[in-house]
Amino acid sequence: MARDRFGREINYMRISVTDRCNLRCMYCMPPDGVPLISHDDILRHEEIVRVVEAAARLGISHIRITGGEPLLRHGIVSLVRMIAQVPGISDVSMTTNGCLLGRYAEHLAEAGLKRVNVSMDTLRPERARDITGHDCLAQVLQGIEVAEACGLQPIKINTVVLRSINLDEIQDLAMLTRLRPWHVRFIELMPSWGAAASLDPGEVVPAEEIAERLRGLGAKPVAANCNPGGAGPARYMRLPGSKGTLGIVGSEDGNPRGMCERCNRLRLSSDGKLYACLFSTVAVDLRDMMRSGASIDELCSAIRGAISNKPRYGRDPGSARNVRPGTGHGGASGGRPALAEIGG
Ligand code: 5AD
Ligand code: SF4
Repeated sequence: MARDRFGREINYMRISVTDRCNLRCMYCMPPDGVPLISHDDILRHEEIVRVVEAAARLGISHIRITGGEPLLRHGIVSLVRMIAQVPGISDVSMTTNGCLLGRYAEHLAEAGLKRVNVSMDTLRPERARDITGHDCLAQVLQGIEVAEACGLQPIKINTVVLRSINLDEIQDLAMLTRLRPWHVRFIELMPSWGAAASLDPGEVVPAEEIAERLRGLGAKPVAANCNPGGAGPARYMRLPGSKGTLGIVGSEDGNPRGMCERCNRLRLSSDGKLYACLFSTVAVDLRDMMRSGASIDELCSAIRGAISNKPRYGRDPGSARNVRPGTGHGGASGGRPALAEIGG
């Protein structure tokens, strides 16, 4: 088992498999997108699996696959299968925008994917178009249905709350949990993150205000030991008699330390840099190491080094925040930060 200097057990690695995305969410990607990493610089499947093998030797047991949009990665199903077969890996999950989930869910489940987090900010098609730049809602909803039917569970839905856009839909989205075993997590907008920096700061709806609205709907807190799993930062609530739960994810701007104290994760960018923290600008370049012939033992010691250098808090000196856009589904590509906490 790997522990860092502060006694945190590190058992989770978040892997970005592509920096591409097929949506342009207003708080994430600028309309013209972001500069893309060249194909040769992206880790190949075998390289990703090698990192997973090394990490698993150190006690990493949970892999979350992110992007950009991970389902855009060619051969994603076989990549999931390869990762799920690595000895020591007991949980493989994915954070996706859901557009391609209907097409892939069955194959992914069969390949060993256990669960998905799907982003869905609205139940109204025109709003979805306004938020994401694409007419995608019907596909996303169908993707969630198919994922459920294929046994991917728990199904978590990530909803970023924007005051002028979808605050009035909290009730409709919350009601989804009454009849479906879905976990709808309302996310406080991180104002300095990705393209959110160009939005009106008034769009932020603080987590406490979201919680107040949920209480107004009759939601009650769920004890920490009956939440739908994951060591993520969400607080959970439930509507009486509902099948699913409601989550609230505060912006890390609010209380970064609370999250940091329970942090169990590392992240690997699509071009092979390993970061010990969401906010780190310091990374180990595992791609360079592998392409210059590093052995698995050398990879292990590089990962161990990253773990031992994990900062106590994301805001420690030397782990400055990077606010480049295109951070979406954990867009841990290039030097961009991942939304390491939101994937749950
Ligand atoms: N603030 C909060 N959440 C964001 N996401 C992307 N950008 C932001 C932001 N600025 C969400 C995506 C996805 C999750 C990985 O992060 O919608 O659900
Ligand atoms: Fe973990 Fe870093 Fe996020 Fe803190 S800021 S919760 S250490 S990833």
